[in-house]
Amino acid sequence: MSCLDVKNIVVVLLKEIKNIFHAELDVLYGKEEVSSFFYLLIEHYFDLERFVLAIQPELVIDKEQETFIFNALSELKLEKPIQHIMGTTHFMELDFKVNKHVLIPRPETEELVRWILDDYEHTDKALKILDIGTGSGCIPISLVKNMPTTKVQAFDISLNALEIAHENAVTHDIAVDFFQADMLKMDREIKYDIIVSNPPYVRELEKAEIRNNVIDHEPGIALFVPDEDPLKFYVAIVKFAAKSLHTEGCLYLEINQYLGIEMKMLLKEYGFESIELRKDIYGNDRMLKGIKA
Ligand SMILES: C[S@@+](CC[C@H](N)C(=O)[O-])C[C@H]1O[C@@H](n2cnc3c(N)ncnc32)[C@H](O)[C@@H]1O
Repeated sequence: MSCLDVKNIVVVLLKEIKNIFHAELDVLYGKEEVSSFFYLLIEHYFDLERFVLAIQPELVIDKEQETFIFNALSELKLEKPIQHIMGTTHFMELDFKVNKHVLIPRPETEELVRWILDDYEHTDKALKILDIGTGSGCIPISLVKNMPTTKVQAFDISLNALEIAHENAVTHDIAVDFFQADMLKMDREIKYDIIVSNPPYVRELEKAEIRNNVIDHEPGIALFVPDEDPLKFYVAIVKFAAKSLHTEGCLYLEINQYLGIEMKMLLKEYGFESIELRKDIYGNDRMLKGIKA
């Protein structure tokens, strides 16, 4: 999208549109989130940073630009995620294409990636990494971007998700070996230095805690697990990691905040050592690491 062009026929004051956003959306999202949506949209569509409106309060847009912003407003009213409206999101300082087939990468997952990067900061070894349930490819792509000597494989059961992951890897010129597989039926003989996963972990009983824009627009297959078997993906992953990691290899998992103790016990049961549970920025038990003895 082009920058604002003052030569275009000028029709609407941008600050007035901001007021319309607040009038229409504050009840649904709250004032602060609506402001953040508005600034994200003007940056995405018009390449305008938020401070520009503060220093140029009389900034205007033309009819065509107005259409973009009002279409976005209509979609926000239907609780479509802002990332789906723009078709992109930021993760680890990179832009990732997203759509209805992939989970929108979350800040908690960035923390998991940063944990791995911190642990291996001083490693020269060309590490072999596997990402299980890759979605948009945000984990493997950002790992390779920051550790270019690593060889990363990543899989997902969803071909639609793999398509997006592949596109994201091409955009960032990153080599990742993506393939389709079911994490409940893993049978690879390859050995890895690191296995990482953010599998589905939200129990049906926790649906009430989840916002409509997530439930209605993000893939259920990426989110939910049955109440009676909430650790089914973790059991498969931990079992696989116990046999497929090199000795001293590390398993990193994003987990359900309510199941930290159970997850620690699971890793212990499969012989992992130095098990460490970490909280996310919101203070919830969210990440777990274990080292293969
Ligand atoms: C919570 S999302 C994580 C996506 C991405 N790794 C991230 O952190 O944003 C879980 C992913 O697991 C995939 N998935 C669900 N069931 C699977 C299965 N049985 N085998 C492999 N992948 C599966 C989903 O398609 C989804 O992409």
